Amino acid sequence: MANPSILILAGDGIGPEVMSEVKKIISWFGDNRGLHFDLSEDLVGGCAYDAHGTPLHDDTMAKAQEVDAVLLGAVGGPKYDALDFSLKPERGLLRLRKEMDLFSNLRPAQCFDALADFSSLKKDIVAGLDIMIVRELTSGVYFGEPRGIHTEGNERVGINTQRYTESEIARVARSAFELARKRGNKVCSMEKANVMESGILWRDVVTEIHAKEYPDVELSHMYADNGAMQLVRNPKQFDVIVTDNLFGDLLSDAAAMLTGSLGMLPSASLGAPMANGRPKALYEPVHGSAPDIAGQGKANPIACILSFAMALRYSFDLGTEADQLEAAVEKVLADGLRTGDLMGPDGGTPVSTSEMGDAIIAALAA
Ligand code: NAD
Ligand code: IPM
Ligand code: MN
Repeated sequence: MANPSILILAGDGIGPEVMSEVKKIISWFGDNRGLHFDLSEDLVGGCAYDAHGTPLHDDTMAKAQEVDAVLLGAVGGPKYDALDFSLKPERGLLRLRKEMDLFSNLRPAQCFDALADFSSLKKDIVAGLDIMIVRELTSGVYFGEPRGIHTEGNERVGINTQRYTESEIARVARSAFELARKRGNKVCSMEKANVMESGILWRDVVTEIHAKEYPDVELSHMYADNGAMQLVRNPKQFDVIVTDNLFGDLLSDAAAMLTGSLGMLPSASLGAPMANGRPKALYEPVHGSAPDIAGQGKANPIACILSFAMALRYSFDLGTEADQLEAAVEKVLADGLRTGDLMGPDGGTPVSTSEMGDAIIAALAA
């Protein structure tokens, strides 16, 4: 049987730096566990614009549709700020998500014991935290029409539209309920049904899917603003949170700080099963291209490495290897290894991006 295929799109800023560490780990699994992947690499974001004048070339889009999984680093940077909206690096990523129809974005926030002191919240609030935010990723205000900037009278008007169909809500709700069954069996759905019709429909559809298909899962509803507050007040009350595209973007960045650093948060963006039974999938850290530290060997590669662990689990059915990789990350953190973003109360041992990757490999091998 052919090896599973992976397309690597390292992107901009710290993207290539953190992805280098993932590539070392992929090689390690090949050399030591006989797990071989067919790797190919291509451009997305600002680097694709520099090479081709577009943030995602059609050939790259076509490749992404064919492979078993895409691994992405990060896109964007100040160099591209002045570009026309349609050419911005972020449009490349959004096109991948939309055209691959990756509607379910899994953003786990887990607080490793070694980092419980690093959160801006008190240790007992975050210690042992393990929540999963399921963000709808292909619809809502990110993609709704009409959109644009036009002139009305003598002033400009900026327009975006929040739009959700029943089936879009139903499929992401199902994905949240399925995940909950494998975890703490609880789903909290967040919207603003008090002010938005799309929120009313969201709440109705989630409630209907629950009653018909998942009555065994505990379901609650929260307005998303209260949800943001509850996430910092008492995050351990949650197991799975399901929410729309924009609320999910905000809530997952907030959840990042519960874990100590944005450099720790992985994600999986999943779509419908392909002919081979694997879901369409793209894995990427939640963080961006971090222009302030790019090129300095300071970036924390853990979010990108944990994203690869999610690929092992969700695309390749290698749950044991995913557990081992996560345990290796936990071990190096317990040993006190710290990239700059993790320098905190315990002092720790400062390490570079590549030293962190090497230590994780050493822990895997131990
Ligand atoms: P960012 O996530 O790039 O950085 C926010 C802060 O977190 C910075 O201080 C940065 O140094 C720090 N940080 C982020 N990741 C880190 C890591 N792995 N290790 C250590 N520190 C880390 O967000 P931003 O500054 O708002 O955005 C910068 C660019 O990235 C923008 O162009 C934005 O659109 C883009 N962006 C891309 C993605 C993506 O590719 N998925 C996600 C978010 C932002
Ligand atoms: C994320 C990012 C993206 C988003 C941007 C870069 C398009 O912030 O993945 O969280 O807003 O979805
Ligand atoms: Mn974001």
